[in-house]
Amino acid sequence: MGDKVSGRKVFGLGFASAALVLAAASGAMLVSGPADAAAKAKPKAAAASPGRKLFVDWSCGSCHTLKDAGGSGHVGPQLDGAKLSKAFVTGRITNGQGAMPSFGGSLTPKEIDTLATYVSAQSNK
Ligand code: HEC
Repeated sequence: MGDKVSGRKVFGLGFASAALVLAAASGAMLVSGPADAAAKAKPKAAAASPGRKLFVDWSCGSCHTLKDAGGSGHVGPQLDGAKLSKAFVTGRITNGQGAMPSFGGSLTPKEIDTLATYVSAQSNK
């Protein structure tokens, strides 16, 4: 009898801490930024695509239309269906061109590589 009571108490504590963890997790979601709002719309794909996250974080979509990343800008060429090679995209991101700013000084070579891989793949879909 005594054992059962203490067993119930332990269960009760476990439940309370699980509820705390859940509360903390939803709190973290509340303070997250706009990029996370986009990620929430497509949770699985966003988590699997650091390239899309970079595209959103660096506001490429304010000038470029790219459906997969929610970009709808018309300052630069539409990237959907543009069939761009990765090397070409790497060059544009690194050096810019005309009204397109260069990101070579802001992004690391690894980030540029990730972003160019993503943009090139999306443009060839
Ligand atoms: C201020 C607006 C602006 C932003 C922000 C911007 N671009 Fe551009 N982008 C342009 C313009 C304008 C061009 C066309 C340049 C030209 O050919 O004269 C362009 C060209 C490109 C091209 C070549 C497309 C083609 O078909 O020739 C790629 C790829 C590209 N941008 C990717 C990106 C990525 C990735 C980002 C985010 C890191 C980005 N752009 C951010 C304006 C922008």
